[in-house]
Amino acid sequence: MGVLKDTGQIEYSRGLEGVIAALSSISAIDGTQGKLIYRGIPIEALAKYSTYEETSYLLLYGELPTKENLEKFEREMRELRNLPEKVEECLKELPPDPHPMDILKVAVAHAALYDPDRQRACREGVMRKVIRIIAQIPTIIAYYHRTRSGKEVVPPDPELGHAANFLYMLHGKRPDEEEAKIFDVALILHAEHGLNASTFAAMVTASTLSDINSAIVSAIGALKGPLHGGANERVLKMLDEIGSADKAEEYVHNALKEKRRIMGFGHRVYKTYDPRARILKEYAEYLSNKYNDRKYIEIGEKIEEIMIRELGKKGIFPNVDFYSGIVYHFLGIPRDLFTPVFAMARSVGWAAHVCEYTQNNRIFRPRAYYIGPEYVEYNPIEQRR
Ligand code: CMC
Repeated sequence: MGVLKDTGQIEYSRGLEGVIAALSSISAIDGTQGKLIYRGIPIEALAKYSTYEETSYLLLYGELPTKENLEKFEREMRELRNLPEKVEECLKELPPDPHPMDILKVAVAHAALYDPDRQRACREGVMRKVIRIIAQIPTIIAYYHRTRSGKEVVPPDPELGHAANFLYMLHGKRPDEEEAKIFDVALILHAEHGLNASTFAAMVTASTLSDINSAIVSAIGALKGPLHGGANERVLKMLDEIGSADKAEEYVHNALKEKRRIMGFGHRVYKTYDPRARILKEYAEYLSNKYNDRKYIEIGEKIEEIMIRELGKKGIFPNVDFYSGIVYHFLGIPRDLFTPVFAMARSVGWAAHVCEYTQNNRIFRPRAYYIGPEYVEYNPIEQRR
């Protein structure tokens, strides 16, 4: 019967903690030192010197592009931003109240039906599909948001880079250079993070030799949850609930007493400060001062102080989702778009892992340890009570 119980010995890792499920040369996390590298390059350097487009190229192709290759890649991203007409029409018909992550899931799946490279399974065809997905996700998010707000959609501007163009399509006006740079950094910091739940979901789907679009749809579904990408939106909700820094102590105290989680804290791999949160905190601080609106940052910093004091010894520190929401707030991004924006950034990480894993593919097929009864006689329905 293959009941594992018979073997007497099991190796079981709840939530697959510590399990190495793949070899990868895309990124590495040092969870005790709080370090993150993409293809060997520290994220601090990428945040300072790179762009989302250049970092995407690095993640997908394994090395920084030459000037010529970067220009070609950027051109391709810009050319592929437009949505198929049917998808654009459909976005106008969709109800205004579902969570935008559900809209994103539907629209990415819908766009795949009109992908001219749909049938191409060669490396070149897959790369084209990947770049199209990365290029189209911002358009989907912005178009849906404009439509649900009763505004005309703003077509992509081919003169603008990925980050600036998204803000332009969302707000209908070009962002200034500083806003575009800050948003670009946020995208770089969210672009890749090893075998997190959504990337793993994409890899599981792709390991069956399904298509890249299905893999990305799986990932979007996984990212939506509050324990993963959905945390950023909830952080701002919590800051609003708390209202002012002097109420933070009582809020956190009660939450911990009631065994509720503080969103934006804790991580499976980092047992120290998440290096992405450090950079985002600096920008959150900067923007709070720039707009002379320090309410959120003050509450956030107070929560951080309390959490580190109470749970730091357990390895609970701010993660990427804690300060990103404050940054997005000052960039005028609506709350329920925070997680879609995470998806927009992470799409490249998902795709990079799918491409890497499927080059030496083996279907993912773990087992469950059966703890149910070994034999139960079938009871006819008439005799059941
Ligand atoms: N607030 C309060 N306690 C926490 C928190 C938190 N945010 N996170 C972990 N803990 C406690 C947890 O209660 C447990 O305590 P005990 O051992 O006494 O039962 C201990 O820390 C270990 O928790 P765990 O759930 O076993 O840890 P995990 O590795 O399975 O979960 C996590 C990691 C990120 C899901 C979790 O820390 C969490 O729920 N955080 C809040 C949600 C969040 O911010 N998610 C974003 C994660 S980072 C970006 C991303 O992936 O999208």
